[in-house]
Amino acid sequence: MEVDKKEELASDSSDQTVNPWEVSAKEGGKIDYDKLIDQFGCQRLDDSLIDRVQRLTSRQPHVFLRRGVFFAHRDFNEVLDAYERGDKFYLYTGRGPSSEALHLGHLIPFMFTKYLQEAFKVPLVIQLTDDEKCMWKNLSVEESQRLARENAKDIIACGFDVTKTFIFSDFDYVGGAFYKNMVKVAKCVTLNKAMGIFGFSGEDHIGKLSFPPVQAVPSFPSSFPHLFPGKDKLRCLIPCAIDQDPYFRMTRDVAPRLGYSKPALIESSFFPALQGENGKMSASDPNSAIYVTDTAKEIKNKINRYAFSGGQDSIEKHREIGANLEVDIPVKYLSFFLEDDTELEHIKKEYGEGRMLTGEVKKRLTEVLTEMVERHRMARAAVTDEMVDAFMAVRPLPNMFESEKPLDFVGSSLCRYYHCTRSMTRTQRKRVEECLEVGNGCLVATVKYLSNSYN
Ligand code: TYM
Repeated sequence: MEVDKKEELASDSSDQTVNPWEVSAKEGGKIDYDKLIDQFGCQRLDDSLIDRVQRLTSRQPHVFLRRGVFFAHRDFNEVLDAYERGDKFYLYTGRGPSSEALHLGHLIPFMFTKYLQEAFKVPLVIQLTDDEKCMWKNLSVEESQRLARENAKDIIACGFDVTKTFIFSDFDYVGGAFYKNMVKVAKCVTLNKAMGIFGFSGEDHIGKLSFPPVQAVPSFPSSFPHLFPGKDKLRCLIPCAIDQDPYFRMTRDVAPRLGYSKPALIESSFFPALQGENGKMSASDPNSAIYVTDTAKEIKNKINRYAFSGGQDSIEKHREIGANLEVDIPVKYLSFFLEDDTELEHIKKEYGEGRMLTGEVKKRLTEVLTEMVERHRMARAAVTDEMVDAFMAVRPLPNMFESEKPLDFVGSSLCRYYHCTRSMTRTQRKRVEECLEVGNGCLVATVKYLSNSYN
């Protein structure tokens, strides 16, 4: 049974801890991902699967696949087998709204999920676990709900298609069919098992114990009767970092007992803290993280001051033996976010052999991250409360499996866009126009969708 394997490691193994609440390697070591695969009992995402993704979607695999950022899976091969036979699936991912702004690590699963949604043309549900953060971070109910809406804006700014995406807050949505599934899951998991999987102790309040079924049941299509009526066999694929695996080991363990399919997973490694690869970037330490709200100056300062360098102490020594790329954070960050494979290889070679200096690599990283954060900031500024309401409305998504029509920036769609913007303030309109200039197609699509609902 999957859960049994995980029980010993839910919280701890001797030299590393990886669970939904803590990611750390002991004594400055790195997270050992091979060991995690072994301990958690998931499978490595190998080249043959990546080739299949390329073949099935007729597009180049995402940089996170090409570079091994998403490195592990559970039954992803089965989802692809079914897709090849003509069976669709749906995507499920989420966010625990514990802070006002997301950091770059949080963007990773959302950027990747957007690619999967576009490449496979499938619907997506995004859970905002405001209840979880209320219980774990001791936030008030109202504050958690406020943060959930703020975080939803950042998520929407990643470019999801509103005609295929349902975002929900637990406080708003839990009930009905969703709650029935929660109760069914809860009845299958003993206290001993939950303590083994999640490391709960007698000191934890019972709210924490009651939470895992909430994160489990979006894996079952029957939890969304407005989206998937009569589609109980639809498979679910969950993109996330591997810290969330305990929830889904539990889910996969109980699913067959309830007559449901096990959700499949595709799991990433962690975008590390600036200080080094022995943990994940974390919102609780501002100096360890770059936030999507950081200014160009803050990004530059954080990289220059805190990004751990594998360069040598003196220029002479650096020229002689080169940088240690294994521990170098700027190179690691570039391998996540510098799209150009040739440039990345060039930097690694020149820096690794001492011809390029740390300052030059940090400068390039600063440019890459500043541009990305600025693009995100503009897209985020264009997300209105109306757009959030549109994504979070409990509604059917009649075209959720259809290919999107090519975006029409001119003619009738632009007219409809202006029809919609009439209901915006002047500032909001200006922001949307800025977004149009940088070509954020999905936001344009959202605006078109909203304008359709006004017509
Ligand atoms: P949360 O808010 O801690 O994290 C949101 C998503 O970001 C991933 N993540 C990271 N990925 C790479 N590098 C990092 N440094 C990093 N930090 C966080 C997380 O794995 C997650 O995918 N309980 C969840 C919310 C949730 C959820 C889900 C997540 C509910 N349902 C289904 C994934 C899938 C949470 O608090 O995530």
